[in-house]
Amino acid sequence: MADTEGLVEARNVKISGKSGAADFHIKGSSHLDWGMKNRMSRIIKADTGRTVMLAVDHGYFQGPTSGLEIMEDTLAPLLPHADCLMLTRGILRSSVPPGCETPIVMRVSGGQSVLTELSNETLTVSVDDCIRLNVSGMAFSIYVGATHEHQTLAAFADLIDAGYSAGIPVLAVTAVGRDMARDARYLSLSSRMAAEMGANIVKTYYCENFERVTGTCPVPIVMAGGKKIPELEALTMAYNAVTEGAVGVDMGRNIFQSDCPVGMIKAVHAVVHYNEKPQAALKIYQDEKKSS
Ligand code: R5P
Repeated sequence: MADTEGLVEARNVKISGKSGAADFHIKGSSHLDWGMKNRMSRIIKADTGRTVMLAVDHGYFQGPTSGLEIMEDTLAPLLPHADCLMLTRGILRSSVPPGCETPIVMRVSGGQSVLTELSNETLTVSVDDCIRLNVSGMAFSIYVGATHEHQTLAAFADLIDAGYSAGIPVLAVTAVGRDMARDARYLSLSSRMAAEMGANIVKTYYCENFERVTGTCPVPIVMAGGKKIPELEALTMAYNAVTEGAVGVDMGRNIFQSDCPVGMIKAVHAVVHYNEKPQAALKIYQDEKKSS
């Protein structure tokens, strides 16, 4: 029995009006359970409500990728500047130190390669393994309007159920087939569908009239980076995305294929978290490049 001698009585507290359930900083997440909210907060930072996710999962369908040949070399200088890392379980186990404090969003869909039709994905990682790996989120590509639409959406629905059961948020990637338009009409359709099906975060492409996409999606949107473009263009796209309602970016090639990846991620960080203007952010990149 616990020693009760000298027990100090709890102080009287006047009614303060505080419920202990203050408003949550993430759109559409106020009614989630504590574990979900805690994991969401690791991904989307409470101080700014934004996130810079570094996507390095490209190998899951295209094998060795320019800039990602030796993952340890790419990741070591970038990790301190990434709010979150999106990758595969193979790379997590083989190439990321377990002491890593950067939250992980695990790529859990796949089953196709760059050599075949790009819409045929299914679940490739169990939620048990995600729990084992202590991930903060799970990323799954849905192919709305593509040949395997039904299959990807059905597997996505199963993942949402498993995610809620384990308390792990699901990020939907609105993948776009080769011949499909990346316009606001299509991207708002697929983003909204993902959210309606239960996605906690949606990753989608920037497009004209992006506010239609962010404004009609009840959960946070992160902007996908896409193919490598000049640094100023990528920073401008990120700036436009966050000022038009995205909570940040999930960017890969425009960071790790830059001639100064650390400069680029620092510049993206300034844009995303502090609304730095593209030209001023470009200077951050240029200064880092000069000094490295
Ligand atoms: C996109 O859906 C995949 O997850 C990619 O492998 C990756 O996230 C793309 O990143 P980025 O287009 O910025 O290189």
